[in-house]
Amino acid sequence: MSKLSHAQWSSRLTFILAATGSAVGLGNIWKFPYMVGDSGGAAFVLIYLLCIALVGLPILVAEWLIGRRGQNNPANAMADLAKSAGQPRIWMIVGISGILGAFLILSFYSVIGGWSLYYTLSSVTGAFSGQDADGIGELFNGMLGNPGLLLLGHSVFMLLVIGIVARGVTKGLEGAVRTLMPALGVLLLVLVGYGMTTGHFGEALGFMFNPDFGALDGGVVLAAMGQAFFTLSLGMGIMMAYGSYLGKEVNLLKTARTVIILDTVVALVAGLAIFPIVFANGLDLDSGPGLIFVTLPLAFGNMGGGVILGLLFFLLLTFAALTSAISLLEPVVEFVEERTPLSRIGSTLVAGAATWALGIAALLAFNVWSDVLILGFNVFDFLDTLTSKYLLPLTGLFAIIFVGWLLDREGVRQELQLGDTGAKIWTLVSRFIAPLGVIVVFVSSL
Ligand code: PFF
Ligand code: NA
Repeated sequence: MSKLSHAQWSSRLTFILAATGSAVGLGNIWKFPYMVGDSGGAAFVLIYLLCIALVGLPILVAEWLIGRRGQNNPANAMADLAKSAGQPRIWMIVGISGILGAFLILSFYSVIGGWSLYYTLSSVTGAFSGQDADGIGELFNGMLGNPGLLLLGHSVFMLLVIGIVARGVTKGLEGAVRTLMPALGVLLLVLVGYGMTTGHFGEALGFMFNPDFGALDGGVVLAAMGQAFFTLSLGMGIMMAYGSYLGKEVNLLKTARTVIILDTVVALVAGLAIFPIVFANGLDLDSGPGLIFVTLPLAFGNMGGGVILGLLFFLLLTFAALTSAISLLEPVVEFVEERTPLSRIGSTLVAGAATWALGIAALLAFNVWSDVLILGFNVFDFLDTLTSKYLLPLTGLFAIIFVGWLLDREGVRQELQLGDTGAKIWTLVSRFIAPLGVIVVFVSSL
């Protein structure tokens, strides 16, 4: 992308669609429900929502603001803004660590994108039809135990991402986001409706919203905060990069509120679709990353029109995963393009191939490398934990400290269009609540 003619989003709606395309993805539908299940339910959900509101929202605004003021890629934007604020250039690390995070996340994200592709095909072949929990479990475990199949799914998914990013058609996706995201929402609601017919909907509601604080510990709180960062695509420079294309007139707080509400609603509805099926079939709440792949096929296999609904659902899930994955590859590609003599296509191939290679290590964690451990985690869990729980929150922490403490306060107040009370709240949140929230969560998890 040329640094000289820094184009802008054509409208606030376009921007919302792009940001939502990045935010809404596997994090909402695949990851959120299984983390809720693993972490004991409502107490996790509550902490997650608090993190979204008190940490995620201000950091999202901070990242957009940095991008819009910097009018450049994340690393350069941070370097320039630091300079004009009389701060050392080292602040550009905030931009660079985000790019590293995006690379690490995409490697394992693509593996799950591959699962989604495989399940799209499995719906068409009627593999779910009339199956019970055991049959569906076998299908899932068969996939996990087959490295060749996982590699195929991961490779096809990465090829799609690379193809789209190489051609630079990222912006053309907004129209698709606009029609396909609502369709995915409708399908989730159909699944919630199915959940209501199982007789276990109330149980699911209680599990998700009636907290048992006995289940809370530092680890659960850290997981909830990490998920808040992951789901909003924070701490990766992505939102900063998006902000650099944002017109001056766009109200950052309102826009952040819209994107966050959309993202949060999708996650909660996904949970409400999945947990009734878990309870109705006596499945394990802590099924981990396999949770949606052992629950939703049961619903599709046993309801009218399930073949077509299953096909549509996994197709749309794959699409949602693609729009997020594209937003993950883009900053890595721009980084390579700017720092090497490579062309756009060359940079995309290099960045994509590196991500693909790391993804192979991640997918082998489910089979032949299952006992290869790094600090006690298999490769997949290591990549996930390192990024979600540490890299993203740390990067976001520095972004909010930078905006809260180092940028000129009056300028930020005007830019956020805040009145007196609003300005006081923003100061409180950006200087204290959000940064201290992240720090307290880190410390409590030790
Ligand atoms: N927010 C995406 C999701 O919830 O699926 C995942 C993601 C996309 C994370 C882009 C980070 C990112 F930069
Ligand atoms: Na998300």
